[in-house]
Amino acid sequence: MRLSPKVFYEHCYGTYAIPAVNVFTMEQIHGLFSAGENANAPFIVQLTPAARNYADPKMLEAMITAAARIYPKATYAVHLDHGDDAHALNAILSGNYQSVMIDASHDNFENNVSRTKKIVDRAHAANVFVEAELGVLSGVEDDRSIDEELARYTQPSQVEEFVARTGCDSLAVAVGTSHGAYKFSGGNGIQFTILKEIQQRLPKFPIVLHGGSAVNKVEIDRINKAGGILSDGASGVSPEEIVKSIAYGVCKINIATDTRLLWTRVHREFFRDTPELFDPVIPGKIYMDDYKQFMLQKFDLLGATGKV
Ligand code: G3H
Ligand code: 13P
Ligand code: NA
Ligand code: ZN
Repeated sequence: MRLSPKVFYEHCYGTYAIPAVNVFTMEQIHGLFSAGENANAPFIVQLTPAARNYADPKMLEAMITAAARIYPKATYAVHLDHGDDAHALNAILSGNYQSVMIDASHDNFENNVSRTKKIVDRAHAANVFVEAELGVLSGVEDDRSIDEELARYTQPSQVEEFVARTGCDSLAVAVGTSHGAYKFSGGNGIQFTILKEIQQRLPKFPIVLHGGSAVNKVEIDRINKAGGILSDGASGVSPEEIVKSIAYGVCKINIATDTRLLWTRVHREFFRDTPELFDPVIPGKIYMDDYKQFMLQKFDLLGATGKV
């Protein structure tokens, strides 16, 4: 069943969180829907502009619709992740998304407000939920690379004005996480004092944590043992920090990197261990199964298991 994130967040606020996972292949969509149905857990399927440009929005949206028939008990929302104005508008008008993100966080405050407000007006007219972002995450975001020095946290003093003026429905914040496999290179974890101040200023308002991958050391080691060259600096958000953030109003945890590392580990090990094979369905099936297991564990960690 498709639901709005609004329904999810009203139910989960302060007690558990919804994983929002970036997909761009059939195997990922199977793994995600199968896990969600098995765990009776709500989830958000998200598509980025890069994924849409890679596979074509029609292909991805059709695969999601098919997955909903294959896994009829899955309870989910379809969300556009890191939309620019054009992708956000296209997603709203397509009728295939319950939710869109307009990411104007790299723009200045006034432009972020006006670009976000424009999308909110169009989205709300179509009954679509809007996630906006204030603050800039460090690291690689979509096709762009952000200068480390530009990285800056969300200013709690700006959040009430931003939400009031834009009318956005949830807010992605920059509180120490970054995208990719090399988070916290400066050694700081999630800034809970900032998160707490944001929550005090926006009570009961759903907060979104981007850069939510765990970047498991065991996976990194396995990739490197199978020929990968990922540096020792690879690290992610600890399970403890993720769980702790829920009480501070974090309702949605974005995950992409972990599923890519999983893909890399499965395929590198497969080609290393069986160099005589060349049938994509064999590693494809391993990836689907391991993806499902990964999601089942994630639902448990976030407290989402059994919530639908
Ligand atoms: O922030 C989202 C993802 O890490 C970027 O994924 O390459 O599919 O746009 P993408
Ligand atoms: P990760 O790079 O930690 O998986 O973050 C994904 C994300 O924020 C997608 O929007
Ligand atoms: Na951003
Ligand atoms: Zn993100």
